[in-house]
Amino acid sequence: MKIYAAKDYNDMSRKAGNLIAAQVTMKPDGVLGLATGSTPVGAYKELIAKYEAGDLDFSRIRSVNLDEYKGLSGDHDQSYRYFMNHNLFDHVNINKEETNVPGGLAEDPEAECERYNRVIQELGGIDLQLLGIGNNGHIGFNEPCDVFEKGTHVVTLTEETRQSNARFFSSIDEVPTHALTMGIGNIMSARKVLLLASGEGKAKALYESCFGPITPNVPASVLQLHSDVVIIADEAALSLIREKTQWEDSVYDN
Ligand code: GLP
Repeated sequence: MKIYAAKDYNDMSRKAGNLIAAQVTMKPDGVLGLATGSTPVGAYKELIAKYEAGDLDFSRIRSVNLDEYKGLSGDHDQSYRYFMNHNLFDHVNINKEETNVPGGLAEDPEAECERYNRVIQELGGIDLQLLGIGNNGHIGFNEPCDVFEKGTHVVTLTEETRQSNARFFSSIDEVPTHALTMGIGNIMSARKVLLLASGEGKAKALYESCFGPITPNVPASVLQLHSDVVIIADEAALSLIREKTQWEDSVYDN
């Protein structure tokens, strides 16, 4: 795994925007795995700016998002479908019919998960999977647990995750208790993974994910087994790695 140090959130976003832009340029009909949360918003802004400057074409890009809250419709302003439309899709020339987010309102969530696995398979897999990381090391909504779940599945959100996502809702009671998420197997099948981390709140999760034991208790630690992972993290998120490993450069390659 390669770790690139960024000065701050803006620097991280620029670097990530450049990397995703390169992917779109090199494979204009490729499949992007996309993520939500506050971390990738800046990178999406960079992509929009590059599109507006005439440097990027999304017309043949297909996408699959990591996850969706169970019980929220795509019109709900906290749903991840709404987030993607609002923060990226509405501002570039991507064909929205070629963008996929798990259905939060599916009557049969298990069947929806199966359908989502088939969507990923029929697209030929994911070329570049973008990831944020939860304070507890979760990726997508794969929460710490005893096993790595392979495919898309329904999860019960931890109290910690509901609390940290409550800032987007008017009260904690409105935060859904369940979500549909790609599994670790779906994420690990991506040909390339790009994980972004910003802020001191992510320092422990990032250190444990990169240098700790590989365990489903820290879901992102499984990425140590992937052959093409790029992490772009700002100095605040890197603080514990800097302290514990004495790494001082801007690029770490192991
Ligand atoms: C949510 C999402 C994750 C995201 C995480 C971190 O739980 N399901 O995909 O990585 O939040 O969010 P943030 O980037 O806002 O810190």
